[in-house]
Amino acid sequence: MTGDPPIDHEAFKQFERDGFSKVAQGYNGAIAQVTSQVNQAILDGVEARAGMRLLDVACGTGWLSADAVKRGAIVTGLDYTENMLVIARSRCPEAEFRVGDAENLPFESDEFEAVVCNFGILHFPEPEKAIAESLRVLKSRGRYAFTCWTPPAHNPFMSLILGTVQTYGTIDVDLPPAPPLFRFGDPDECKKTLNVKGFTSVSVTELLINWTFSKPEDVMPTIIASSARLGSMLSMQTGQQRHDIENAIIEGAKKYATNDGIEIPAYAVLTVGRKP
Ligand SMILES: C[S@@+](CC[C@H](N)C(=O)[O-])C[C@H]1O[C@@H](n2cnc3c(N)ncnc32)[C@H](O)[C@@H]1O
Repeated sequence: MTGDPPIDHEAFKQFERDGFSKVAQGYNGAIAQVTSQVNQAILDGVEARAGMRLLDVACGTGWLSADAVKRGAIVTGLDYTENMLVIARSRCPEAEFRVGDAENLPFESDEFEAVVCNFGILHFPEPEKAIAESLRVLKSRGRYAFTCWTPPAHNPFMSLILGTVQTYGTIDVDLPPAPPLFRFGDPDECKKTLNVKGFTSVSVTELLINWTFSKPEDVMPTIIASSARLGSMLSMQTGQQRHDIENAIIEGAKKYATNDGIEIPAYAVLTVGRKP
């Protein structure tokens, strides 16, 4: 978009890597339970089955890799944050986990029958490169599936966090300029991008995911302790802004009370394409 600051790809990558490195334990204890709600849909999308070679890009702490192993797939997980991989290796010793960059995959062409990427694409400075790399390492007729959150206007959880920051603080904090967070939460954009990159049979499905918390007071501390970009954005507000944001998030979260705690819906888009 005109007027947006240029993205320093290396600075953004470094920021994300440092962020995920710090929150790896927190991520595994909180967000991985959220993102893994779509694991079966992703594995269905790529028709995961016994004996298939499957690459899990930006695998984080390995929950999707572990579910792919349960289907009998021969799984390689790749992530550039070693602290995430330490947890992945203990969670799923049956898979091989490697440090590497999604935009420059350390694999030969035509190696995998499936490539999956759960909530990774929104963290890549040049997602087109990551998509092209996934296409390259896939065998002919292999499938690629990735997920991304839908924008706040259609996503109660994201709206609660980002809408509240916008109202009581600022989203314009001193973080490295980044690609649009919700670009691949737009089905048309997903279809167009995969088609341009050379995928066929592209389909896009919307999925419901629930963010659950024991009590409303847990929402903001959990995000700060487990998310790289959103957590930094919340931490970087002034004291007063942070206080106001926290109170507003608590009030907002109370609307989602259930008998078991707090359950805030969010939506994600699952995109699947096939290599010709
Ligand atoms: C939101 S987490 C998703 C983790 C996991 N797929 C899940 O669903 O829970 C994003 C992951 O992407 C990794 N990541 C970000 N940019 C990357 C890159 N360029 N190459 C490899 N991994 C990357 C981070 O280290 C982090 O583990």
